[in-house]
Amino acid sequence: MEPAKQHLGASLSGLVRVLLLLTALLVLVVAIVLTRYYGPGPAADPARAAADEARQGPPLPGSYHRPATPAPDTATIPRTAAGRQIRYGRALVAHTARYLGPQGSVAQLSNGMNCQNCHLDAGTKGFANNYLAVAATYPKLRARSATVVTMEQRVNGCLERSLNGRALADSSREMRAIVAYLNWLGQGIPKGQKVYGTGLTPLAYLPRATDPVIGKAVFATKCQSCHGPEGQGQLLADGREYQYPPLWGPHSYNDGAGLYRISNLARYVKAAMPFGATFDHPQLTDAQAWDVAAFVNSQPRPHLQTPHDWPDISKKPVDHPFGPYADAFSERQHKYGPYQPIADARPGSSAAN
Ligand code: HEC
Ligand code: HEC
Repeated sequence: MEPAKQHLGASLSGLVRVLLLLTALLVLVVAIVLTRYYGPGPAADPARAAADEARQGPPLPGSYHRPATPAPDTATIPRTAAGRQIRYGRALVAHTARYLGPQGSVAQLSNGMNCQNCHLDAGTKGFANNYLAVAATYPKLRARSATVVTMEQRVNGCLERSLNGRALADSSREMRAIVAYLNWLGQGIPKGQKVYGTGLTPLAYLPRATDPVIGKAVFATKCQSCHGPEGQGQLLADGREYQYPPLWGPHSYNDGAGLYRISNLARYVKAAMPFGATFDHPQLTDAQAWDVAAFVNSQPRPHLQTPHDWPDISKKPVDHPFGPYADAFSERQHKYGPYQPIADARPGSSAAN
């Protein structure tokens, strides 16, 4: 080969090499960008999963899907006396009214609602008042009573407030069964730990007060078709259990209940309503959830005397709707917001949500 041609050949193959290198680089960059934005993604990224766990919140829009911790399979409940007790507990949670409602077969001590109306899928749905961590976290110190509360006392709290009824004796067959079910759900969860999906979803405060007037319009378009124009709900044909539970009025939860706090109701509704919504596929904006909660909790409902609640008033949640308070904000602002200024005014405030 002549030297000139040789030289041309060498520089050509050099050029090809450079081009190949550039193409490879481009492919690499495109691949990185694609996996970053569209890939099945960092389910395997432990740092991100841990951050998500710590936030205990819904996945951010566009981020990877992280399912709530699943409950144990009911098919694994043993066919023994202990298993029968667990199944009875689950039935009491799912169909409380059939056993303990106004026409209950065991006793008549509650308003006709079911635990499951609020603790969806018998307390197993993610961020819909999920029960999975109950066994691991009770007995627990509660600020509301300033006492250590047992699982039985916590269940009775919901019976007396959310079901506007009367307590079950700790030794009753029904209480033993509900506790057995809660313990079965929590099997394998280490003491003191929560799991992803526990309780309710976090929800940022609005920069304004929640608005029952806007909420009334949200109710009319998004809720009324099932819960009724007067929020009265709809009984099943046999009249012994609700198909759609009441949201206010004489058969609803009373004003001592957890859902009577607008933040709890908004957090529940955001992750669970209209029926079919989930924490990772909500159907309402944050503002719709807050405003409809303000509307629902501005309507009449049974009153409960709670002289022993909040012995330390400085521990009342920001949105506790009844005074006296340890600060100078009005009862109205505590109930409807804006909440952020109240949270900011608290000693050692940050995120009193
Ligand atoms: C498609 C029918 C449907 C729609 C629409 C709907 N819900 Fe519900 N809602 C239900 C059912 C059914 C339950 C009980 C779930 C169960 O028992 O498994 C329920 C339960 C509830 C509960 C807890 C129980 C209670 O009665 O206090 C609240 C609160 C609630 N819904 C609020 C709302 C709000 C607010 C909206 C509108 C944003 C809404 N729902 C829209 C069907 C519906
Ligand atoms: C009207 C809605 C509603 C109904 C009905 C209801 N609950 Fe609850 N329950 C809540 C809310 C809201 C919370 C959490 C907020 C709070 O602490 O006040 C809660 C909390 C609990 C907890 C504690 C959960 C935890 O992780 O700390 C238990 C246990 C419980 N409920 C059991 C029951 C049982 C059993 C029934 C039926 C007898 C029942 N609930 C009926 C709304 C309801």
